[in-house]
Amino acid sequence: MIDRIVTAGNEPEDPIEIELEVTLRPRDFASYIGQERLKQNLQLAIDAAKKRSDPLDHILLYGPPGLGKTTMASVIAHEMGAQVRITSGPAIERAGDLASLLTNLQDGDILFIDEIHRLNRTVEEVLYSAMEDFKLDIMIGKGPSARSLRLDLPKFTIIGATTRAGALAGPLRDRFGHIHRLEFYTPEEIQRIIIRAAGILNVKIDAPAAASLATRARLTPRIANRLLKRVRDYADVNGDGIIDSHISSQALGLLEIDELGLDPADRLLLAAIIDNYDGGPVGVETLAALTAEERSTIEDFIEPYLMQIGLLERTPRGRKVTRKTYKHLGKTPKSQEQASLI
Ligand code: ADE
Repeated sequence: MIDRIVTAGNEPEDPIEIELEVTLRPRDFASYIGQERLKQNLQLAIDAAKKRSDPLDHILLYGPPGLGKTTMASVIAHEMGAQVRITSGPAIERAGDLASLLTNLQDGDILFIDEIHRLNRTVEEVLYSAMEDFKLDIMIGKGPSARSLRLDLPKFTIIGATTRAGALAGPLRDRFGHIHRLEFYTPEEIQRIIIRAAGILNVKIDAPAAASLATRARLTPRIANRLLKRVRDYADVNGDGIIDSHISSQALGLLEIDELGLDPADRLLLAAIIDNYDGGPVGVETLAALTAEERSTIEDFIEPYLMQIGLLERTPRGRKVTRKTYKHLGKTPKSQEQASLI
């Protein structure tokens, strides 16, 4: 995957970036902007669990990357007064890795498993009884002398996160008491997130610039914060450090991000559908080949936002663009017949 400034993947590598990411993250519901219904539902679950002195039921959070699944997990832990351990599906390679994670937890602890759809089968099966009965069933030894052992586990809570709820095995999905989708944020929420982050980072940004950044951040907090940092770099080098609309639009122009937050990879995908398939429908594998992107990159990173803003539709026969796409890219349908189909 090419490195895109608007990609919502969650791997900052630079220690300074990691620290900033951490300080920008809200710690509690009061400072968490957006996802109002989810917060209400979770607050209720937390209040009820606390009242009964029970652990929280297991929670599955799903939705496009960058919308705050990890952040929400640490907010939940904070609100419960619990400790959180963070891991991911691919990091738990063997049943033994899971056993060591689970046996090191204490009552009430939260285990956050990112990309939970990438757990392998054997690990997943051990997780079933751990989630359901707080028991760990493990096999010791091999062959005729093998025996199974059942260990008691502390009363923990799993918070699983995935970009693809559909990729989760049914039995695993069924073991979550709460299943919630994180929604894209509204432009107003993104604007508030940008203003909050600017305050924490000591960046001066005026309201029109914050609004214009907000419309280009793909309705995604992680991207909003990243754009803010890149525009701040531009303002520091080419201005007096203050971000106004002029500076922000120049910086975003340099990053090739347009008024709707699309970058060259988005525009390439949409133009490929129009130029090669008269607007679609066309299968995702064909699009992957045409744009030299992986199918999973297209499905997880590129498409959700394009669908959200009405530039792309998924149909049983493949992907289609809309009238709005033609207009945004300044293209016209080849024929009257084509125009009537979109
Ligand atoms: N930073 C990243 N996501 C945020 C959110 N939802 N609320 C406040 N600040 C954030």
